[in-house]
Amino acid sequence: MGVVSSDTSPLPYGRQSIDDDDIAAVVRVLRSDFLTQGPEVKRFEEGLAEATGAKYAVAVSNGTAALHLACIAAGVRTGDTGITATVTFVASANAIRYAGGNVRFADVNADTGLISTASLAERIAECKKDGVSPKVVIPVDLTGAVADLAEVQAQARAVGAKVIEDAAHSLGGTYTVDGKKYRAASCAHADMAILSFHPVKHVTTGEGGAITTNDDALYRELCDLRTHGITKDPARLTHSDGPFYYEQHMLGFNYRITDMQCALGSSQLAKLSRFVDRRRALATLYDQAFRPHADKVVPLAVPAGGDSARHLYVIRIVARDGESLDSVTARRRALFEALVAQKIFPQVHYIPVHTQPDFQRNGMGKETLPGAQAYYAGCLSLPMFPAMADGDVQRVVGGVMDVLSRPL
Ligand SMILES: Cc1ncc(COP(=O)(O)O)c(C=O)c1O
Repeated sequence: MGVVSSDTSPLPYGRQSIDDDDIAAVVRVLRSDFLTQGPEVKRFEEGLAEATGAKYAVAVSNGTAALHLACIAAGVRTGDTGITATVTFVASANAIRYAGGNVRFADVNADTGLISTASLAERIAECKKDGVSPKVVIPVDLTGAVADLAEVQAQARAVGAKVIEDAAHSLGGTYTVDGKKYRAASCAHADMAILSFHPVKHVTTGEGGAITTNDDALYRELCDLRTHGITKDPARLTHSDGPFYYEQHMLGFNYRITDMQCALGSSQLAKLSRFVDRRRALATLYDQAFRPHADKVVPLAVPAGGDSARHLYVIRIVARDGESLDSVTARRRALFEALVAQKIFPQVHYIPVHTQPDFQRNGMGKETLPGAQAYYAGCLSLPMFPAMADGDVQRVVGGVMDVLSRPL
């Protein structure tokens, strides 16, 4: 039986950590000459390149915009096909559609929530059968654990598709290929990676995102796409009418990020390793506390060889002998509601995107994806953010085990 704590201060599933120096960094920009398109954007981009090990970073207005631009740069156009994992935020799939493409969904491994490379191979084989060449594959580093990028890249390359690593959850994480460690979003096994700086993420700019890449041509295209497809680069202009002159070379967007946001981002980035270390320490505390209850609940498995950046701490309710997924889902709902009553606010990451009505209505998401259904039925994200105290973990675990120990 769990022990329900008498503490009733609200515990969200995630929240930002903002210190006085973060606030001072933003205020400095507010008193400066440039609120946007100034020096802070470049500085933040250089910091991101250093943090990930990628050659370039292009900072944009949010992670969804980063995905959109990356899909265009990957060559997705009207009627093209892109493949992503179904257990993700809708943005990973929507970006393919913004660029005019259709989405095919790969299943996930139920125990990790990460893309199943066997299912990816099936989707690619189906594409071949249908005479379709997928333009892009978007693996998702769910909860901060990096997907099997080397295998995804091998499969994608074999059919001429580009890989965009959705690293919205994994800044600060690592993975291993052939005994060598790589950083998430380093683009060692992807053409591009995207990051998000939403407040629940590892570092925040309020809203914000970035694309990383090691490819010079992709970098240039992404920079142009961020600002209306406009270039002022003298080497690329057809001619010049003077110092003011610019040309639009493609249809782009205003996906710029402000200098206030980037000043906050640089200030936050300086604390990345501290934030990630604290998240890992909290995950270890959760793991230890749940270990004696492995017949009822298990933490989402993290693949061997990597260090998850621990964006989310997901537990999975263990199905009882012969229990249906519907029954597990009902127990997850009871657990969710009981925690909320104790001012502990969990979340579900994610409802498989292929089941969303808008995808179904538009002829997508017809795949049968049993790994995702099994994962979704019993998953729950528990509070996980750097300012949490060790005692908060005990409070959450007590609340969870109190419910899961009841007969229901
Ligand atoms: C996996 C994943 N991809 C993409 C995004 C989109 O990022 P943003 O909210 O910054 O647009 C998110 C955001 O929550 C995410 O979790």
